[in-house]
Amino acid sequence: MATILRDWSYRYQWFYDTISALAALSVGGDKRFRQLFLKDLPINPEAKALDLCCGAGQATQELVKHFTNVTGLDASPIAIQRAKQNVPQANYVEAFAEKMPFSDRSFDLVITNTAMHEMESEQLQQIIQEVHRILTPEGQFIIVDFHRPTNPLFWLPISTFLWLFETETAWQLLKTDLPQLLSKSGLKIESCQLYAGGSLQVLRSRKS
Ligand SMILES: C[S@@+](CC[C@H](N)C(=O)[O-])C[C@H]1O[C@@H](n2cnc3c(N)ncnc32)[C@H](O)[C@@H]1O
Repeated sequence: MATILRDWSYRYQWFYDTISALAALSVGGDKRFRQLFLKDLPINPEAKALDLCCGAGQATQELVKHFTNVTGLDASPIAIQRAKQNVPQANYVEAFAEKMPFSDRSFDLVITNTAMHEMESEQLQQIIQEVHRILTPEGQFIIVDFHRPTNPLFWLPISTFLWLFETETAWQLLKTDLPQLLSKSGLKIESCQLYAGGSLQVLRSRKS
């Protein structure tokens, strides 16, 4: 279930960005939120980086500051069009994350920012297997997404947010053991950092 606000957030980028910025206050603001995946990340500017489900390029914008070879992938032609306008320094591919048109071992880093909560559980497993396939040996996969709050005070804000803007898949993600799914696909968990009372996770894994 979702409300009309979800449609608006996809239709109007300014609305999506405003909602995202408001939600980001819970982790110290939009700038900090967008850079969470970069924390403790050893940067090799030559590394090939993929922003999986890049949307309008919000995280791609951060990637291009540190990496020279950045690709954004999204299934939505509108998202790709916006990303190209917002972050022209990256390359873009319109495709589904569960069947990516990349050869094996072609990326050193894959990040996905607040998108995995849109996937059905089978789709999520396919995507993780695909990420494993396209990662180079030792390549890293970083997921930033919702997490079941550890602080009970955060249940109300996250429930309200999910009710207004998300669908059933986001609720499912709160019950999903993502580290276990990643491990099952051969990715080794390096760390899981929680923010906003546990309602947001930054999960780092590596192809072993
Ligand atoms: C909530 S937005 C996140 C956008 C961006 N990563 C950000 O940080 O704001 C989720 C994005 O995932 C894309 N998406 C959803 N399902 C997808 C799939 N199966 N394959 C590729 N992209 C998908 C949507 O088109 C949308 O742009």
